[in-house]
Amino acid sequence: MNSPKIFAGSSNPNLAKEISRRSKIPLGQIEIGRFSDTEIDVWVKDEVNNSDVFIIQSNSAPVNDNIIELALIADAVKRSGAHKITAVIPYLGYSRKEKQTRPGEPISAKVVADLITASGINKVVCIDLHADAIVGFFNVPVIYLSALEVLGDRIKKEKHKGLIVVSPDVGGVKRARNFATILNAPLAVIEKHRQVATRDKIEVLSISGEVTGDTAIIIDDVISTGGTIIESAHALKEKGVKEVIVCATHGVFAGNAFENLGKSEIDKIFVTDTIAKDIKSSKIEQVTVAGLIADCLKKEI
Ligand code: R5P
Repeated sequence: MNSPKIFAGSSNPNLAKEISRRSKIPLGQIEIGRFSDTEIDVWVKDEVNNSDVFIIQSNSAPVNDNIIELALIADAVKRSGAHKITAVIPYLGYSRKEKQTRPGEPISAKVVADLITASGINKVVCIDLHADAIVGFFNVPVIYLSALEVLGDRIKKEKHKGLIVVSPDVGGVKRARNFATILNAPLAVIEKHRQVATRDKIEVLSISGEVTGDTAIIIDDVISTGGTIIESAHALKEKGVKEVIVCATHGVFAGNAFENLGKSEIDKIFVTDTIAKDIKSSKIEQVTVAGLIADCLKKEI
């Protein structure tokens, strides 16, 4: 068996470098370019015959390009004789569409899982999927990591008193309960409604649990437009909560998210670096999942 290699797609090269540094698995050489008609071209320059290969690629924006790029890299290393191909997908795009909400819709997360596995990968590593069931959408083994400990360690450094963990929707209760256990805090749950027609417009319907006067820590898998956490923070402050902190694994920050979050009642936001993003707000701090992924890869070689 030849030595293992990491290849970075173009979505998150800094995270890939840091994973390589921490795991001591070298970064392979790859050239990713474009044909003049915008099609992606990939050239894996290193010898990978009989090597274990790890491809680090988040399906963040440009989402569709990054999915195809991952598939092309996988195909390239497969054709070069890689022994085992592991797709490390810190953020899985389309994962919020894991079920039909009305007839006539696709199950996009399943389509993406099928596309990725069809390219010849043997294993997937992913982090905090929108729904745990998505693990089963892949027809190959999945190592399912969670960034909750990483985020929890960061929160513990703040030494808050009187914490309460809040799930911003009913679907996130299991995640919030796990986070509440890590922080040894009670749990509250927000019931939210998302208008199907406008997709991003959020309405808070109710909050269950005693939240008055506490520091509330909202935990979510992803921040996209910020609508969910902005409305949740507003509802919590109306209930008398003094401080609202948000923890989320994936910081998509779509559209005017930075501006809207800046103006919001949220006091502080912690996200991980599963998505490479130029963070344009002093309220937002990134914590790295490089160690979490590196430890996982070291066990795989
Ligand atoms: C939804 O169920 C997710 O867990 C997130 O709460 C949601 O996708 C965040 O999106 P946005 O920031 O646009 O409200």
